Amino acid sequence: MSVHKQWKKVTVPQIRESKGGEPIICLTAYTSLTAVLLDEHVDLLLVGDSLGMVLYGMDSTLGVSLDMMIGHGKAVMRGARKSCVIVDMPFGSYQESPESAFRNAARVMKEVGCAGVKLEGGVEMAETIRFLVQRGIPVLGHIGLLPQSVNTAGGFRSLGRKDKEAAGIIEDAKAVEEAGAFATVIEGTVEPLAREITEMLSIPTIGIGASPACDGQILVTEDLVGLFSGFKPKFVKRYAELGAAIEKAVEEYAGDVRARRFPTLEQCFGVKAPESEAKTDESKSEAPETKPEPVDTTVIPMGLRSTSFGK
Ligand code: KIV
Repeated sequence: MSVHKQWKKVTVPQIRESKGGEPIICLTAYTSLTAVLLDEHVDLLLVGDSLGMVLYGMDSTLGVSLDMMIGHGKAVMRGARKSCVIVDMPFGSYQESPESAFRNAARVMKEVGCAGVKLEGGVEMAETIRFLVQRGIPVLGHIGLLPQSVNTAGGFRSLGRKDKEAAGIIEDAKAVEEAGAFATVIEGTVEPLAREITEMLSIPTIGIGASPACDGQILVTEDLVGLFSGFKPKFVKRYAELGAAIEKAVEEYAGDVRARRFPTLEQCFGVKAPESEAKTDESKSEAPETKPEPVDTTVIPMGLRSTSFGK
């Protein structure tokens, strides 16, 4: 944890000023639950359009809508107290013109209350980035591998092996910086190129499949905890196997329900003690009367507290 310890709520200028300092810790979050779990440990939470693939099972991020991003952005904001929340602009919401990009990005900022937006693209997006930044919308750039351009790129592969390709990505990096982005994601490039760009830019770089030299790192949280098993890119390190743990838990639950081991009376409300227990234990009946224990509401799941089930 870097920026986090020094400031209460991490702001865009603070991220911008962390260039060359302690690594900026970033992760994706799509839900309030995840945001609550991550908030303490990260500087920046990205509501990434990767949610289309991770949460909705889409083949790419192209089907993600502005409304989906706004809905998930709001959920993340409810769970994030300290981290800087940035929302991805989905495919089709910013490419047409700087004006339409501003309209859509302003909607995201107003409705979500996030600190800024991210959009993919370098030289071709510079005018749009400038237009947004000059009008009060902080922009996180995204260069290198651009998932929203999967169709024109013809698939996903690491970039920058050839000189011409590397030179193009360097131009993108410069363009994004000059346009006023406060930082840029570098995705899926060869390591020396991401290192070179990091050294060259005055704004922080946030790497994913890029280089340890980047000013910050980001991963899709579900990849990191082993929840998304669609595929595991080379650049992902798994820190947990939650998918396998969930499957095991659910298998056990199903077995218990099938065998009538769940629920037991312990998990039921209004269960009277068997009469035999109440009558036969004389020592108990002679014992001084004690007040009944107050009901421990903490055992009632949060989602049920406001319903009659919790009473
Ligand atoms: O959509 C996303 O999650 C992203 C990150 C992987 C950088 O763009």
